Amino acid sequence: MDIKEQLEQIKNNAMEMLKNNEDLESIRVKFLGKKGELTAVLRSMGQVSPEDRPLVGKHVNEVREAIEQAIESKKASFMEKAMQVKLMAETIDVTEPGKKPEMGHRHPISQTEEMLVDIFVGMGFSVVEGPEIEYDYYNFEALNLPKNHPARDTQDTFYITDNILLRSQTSPVQVRTMENTKPPIRIISPGRVYRADPADATHSPIFHQMEGLVVDKGITMGDLKGVLELFAKKVFGENTKIRFRPHHFPFTEPSAEVDVSCWECGGKGCRVCKGEGWVEILGAGMVHPFVLKNCGIDPDVYSGFAFGMGIERIALSRFGIDDLRLFYENDERFLKQF
Ligand code: DAH
Repeated sequence: MDIKEQLEQIKNNAMEMLKNNEDLESIRVKFLGKKGELTAVLRSMGQVSPEDRPLVGKHVNEVREAIEQAIESKKASFMEKAMQVKLMAETIDVTEPGKKPEMGHRHPISQTEEMLVDIFVGMGFSVVEGPEIEYDYYNFEALNLPKNHPARDTQDTFYITDNILLRSQTSPVQVRTMENTKPPIRIISPGRVYRADPADATHSPIFHQMEGLVVDKGITMGDLKGVLELFAKKVFGENTKIRFRPHHFPFTEPSAEVDVSCWECGGKGCRVCKGEGWVEILGAGMVHPFVLKNCGIDPDVYSGFAFGMGIERIALSRFGIDDLRLFYENDERFLKQF
C-alpha cells in the first residue's frame, strides 16, 4: 500500500470510528497523538523520495485537518445535545395553574368580638385595653371586693404573687380608665380573662369578656337600658326584648342580670332557653359610689353605668354551639364552618 492509500485509509478509519464512538479523546490520541497513526506516517517520510515529500506532507496535513474538524464538529453536536436535554429537563410550564394558598379566617370568638365592638363603637364608645396580668387591687379591691369578701370565691383565679394575678374579669379596666380619664367616659374593653375553673361544656380557665362603662353627669339606669336594648336588637334581631333581674355585684348599686328574649323561640319556651323564654347574657348596674370615689370621681356630681358580658356566651348563641371547648381545640373541621 503506498503512502497515499495509507493516508486515505487512516482518514476513513477515523471517520468511521467517529460515527459510532463517543470517546472523542481516545480517537484523537489514536490518530493524531504523539504515538498516533498519522504521526507514524510522518515518521516514515524518510522512505519518501525528496521530490514527493512536499506533496505527501501536504496530504498528511489535509488528513489531520479533516480529522480535527470532524472531532470538533462532533464535540459541538454533543454539547448542543446536552444543552437540549438540560433545557428540556428544566422547562417550566408557565401555563400550568398556580397552587392556591389556603386562606384562613378570623376565629369565631374574634368575629364575635369584632361584631360587639362595631356595635358599641357605632354608639360612640371607644375601645380601651387593660393588662391580663393584674394587681389584686384593680381586679378586686378597688371594685369593692376586699380581701376575704365571699364574692371572690366565684372568681377564683391564678395567682402569681399574693398581690398579682391573672385578671378574672375585664372590670379592672373600669378602674384604670376612671383613674386617669375625666368624665365624660364612654368605653368598652374586650379581652381575655382567667378563672381557676376546670374546663367543661360551659366553663373554661381562659375565656373572653367585654366590659362597658359610661360615666357622666346625670347618667341613669334608663341610659343603661337604652344602650343594652339597642345592643340586644343588633345581636339577636329587631324583635328582641330585654329584661332586668335584680342581682348583686359589689361594684354596682343597683345591680342587675340582663336577659334577652329567646332568639330561637321568641319567648315561648324551647330547648335553647330551657323553657324559660329568656336567656341570661350579661351583668350590669350603676357604678357603685365607693368605686367612683376610689378612682377620684365625685359620686355627688357624676354617676355611671357598667356592664360585662362573656364573649363566648354570645358566640355560642349566635352560632348555635353547645360546647365551649370546641372554640379552643382549633380543629379545622370545626373552625371552617364559621
Ligand atoms: N365582672 C362581672 C363578672 O365577671 C360582670 C359584670 C357585672 C361587669 C356587672 C360589670 C357589671 O361591669 O356592672 O361576672
